[in-house]
Amino acid sequence: MLDVVVAPAALPSSGALVLPVEEGGAAHAVAWAGLDEATGGAVSRALEVAEFKGRKGQTATILAPGAGLTRVVAVGLGKPGELTQLGAEEAGGHAIAKLSREAAVAVAPGPLTPRLAGHLALGAVLRSYRFDRYRTTEKAEDKPLLGKLALLTEDAGAVEAAWAALRPVADGVFLARDLVSEPPNVLTPAEFAHRCEALGDLGLKVEVIGPKEMAKLGFGAFLGVAQGSVNEPRMVVMHWHGAGGAKGRKGNGVKPLAFVGKGVTFDTGGISIKPAAGMEDMKWDMAGAGAVVGLMAALAGRHAKVDAVGIVGLVENMPSGHAQRPGDVVTTYSGQTVEVINTDAEGRLVLADVLWYCQKHFDPRFMVDLATLTGAMVITLGHEIGGFFANDDELAQRLHAAGEASGEKLWRMPLGEAYDKLIKSDIADMKNVGGRPGGAITAAQFIQRFVNGKPWAHLDIAGMAWANKDSALTPKGATAYGVRMLNQLVADNYEG
Ligand code: BES
Ligand code: MN
Ligand code: ZN
Repeated sequence: MLDVVVAPAALPSSGALVLPVEEGGAAHAVAWAGLDEATGGAVSRALEVAEFKGRKGQTATILAPGAGLTRVVAVGLGKPGELTQLGAEEAGGHAIAKLSREAAVAVAPGPLTPRLAGHLALGAVLRSYRFDRYRTTEKAEDKPLLGKLALLTEDAGAVEAAWAALRPVADGVFLARDLVSEPPNVLTPAEFAHRCEALGDLGLKVEVIGPKEMAKLGFGAFLGVAQGSVNEPRMVVMHWHGAGGAKGRKGNGVKPLAFVGKGVTFDTGGISIKPAAGMEDMKWDMAGAGAVVGLMAALAGRHAKVDAVGIVGLVENMPSGHAQRPGDVVTTYSGQTVEVINTDAEGRLVLADVLWYCQKHFDPRFMVDLATLTGAMVITLGHEIGGFFANDDELAQRLHAAGEASGEKLWRMPLGEAYDKLIKSDIADMKNVGGRPGGAITAAQFIQRFVNGKPWAHLDIAGMAWANKDSALTPKGATAYGVRMLNQLVADNYEG
């Protein structure tokens, strides 16, 4: 990870300089620490030629303007006084994208408060993510350098504190992106569970449940999905106890927040097999689980004053002589039966048992599940906004607000009786698909049948887990969508 440090506010004599500039503030910005003087007026002339105005998202890169510097990247912050946390992060992301071959980058204080300087650093770190574990022949000159990022400031203590609170969020995002990026032969359910166990170091209590225990509990739906694969399923329960009150499971007073993730480490569709084209994408059908793990790591890393439980259902959906068939009827942990019409609608089967377990064993304050659940959701909102469903208006409003603040946006979708009817079965309590119309909604209705009077929200992140192009905070690839949004939800509403 890009190393972020704090340093005194003086013009550096080597490396690159990021110059944060508000709209109309270029003259003031170039005067900082005698920058323009030191470069013989080159910086201000270059900004003029580049028509750099300091607008949000605007950048101007100036090569070797003297004074020992390699480059100056001016980055626009938008209208004075209107800079948000997200705006600062995006400025950091845009700037670092221009500096991938610089060993040392300093950020001038500009108009940034210590808090916003921390967010700029977070944005730079997030944008500099790269998954290169399996590149063995790449030449050094083709690799990006991960230099130091020095935040120049006159208030070192405050900037250090700001970064200390945000660094764990970057760690959580990187962890989630690593999990989502790993190939499916490496990241089996067992390997995923091992990586969760390693988070014990952060103070999380981690419990791993295997197929024998699942069978004892009666996870008929989850195990039905698992039975076609030689890679055994796992359920991992991660518990963060940071509220300082009475500890633990149901009955001990403190109700935890609960986050549940779909962790299908590879989704072939099973016997209802998917077409070959693009099937490799289904390695990231565990992105919901990845986001839950990343969130739990972030909460623990920053010692969030909250009790939270993260539970992931890890399984591989394969066709084989042992695989479940279309037409099978399974009995879920809740006791309700499901006719499996399509073995490719497996995520909801996994979530059914995990959500029931979550309620029964933790009596949470609310449950939020994340799942790459339906192609229909991708058709609905594309890759710009995640869709969500909720049975509770307060939770819905808080999620929406957290989405806006973090930039990981959400849009609420409807639930209702008429949609629920579409999953009636002739032979069992319900069937696992409701036809193509409203496919994301009938999937949510299915999941709601396993919610027992708790405030609940279901995030269908199928369109958001993977990006095919770079954006301000996310290089193309695994996004870790959900980690920053849910961290924001917790920080803004549940730590007071
Ligand atoms: N993992 C897929 C959903 C998905 C599709 C995620 C595309 C990301 C991109 C899920 O398990 C699935 O296969 N859903 C089916 C449900 C259908 C059989 C009712 C779908 O959406 O086609
Ligand atoms: Mn599927
Ligand atoms: Zn799936």
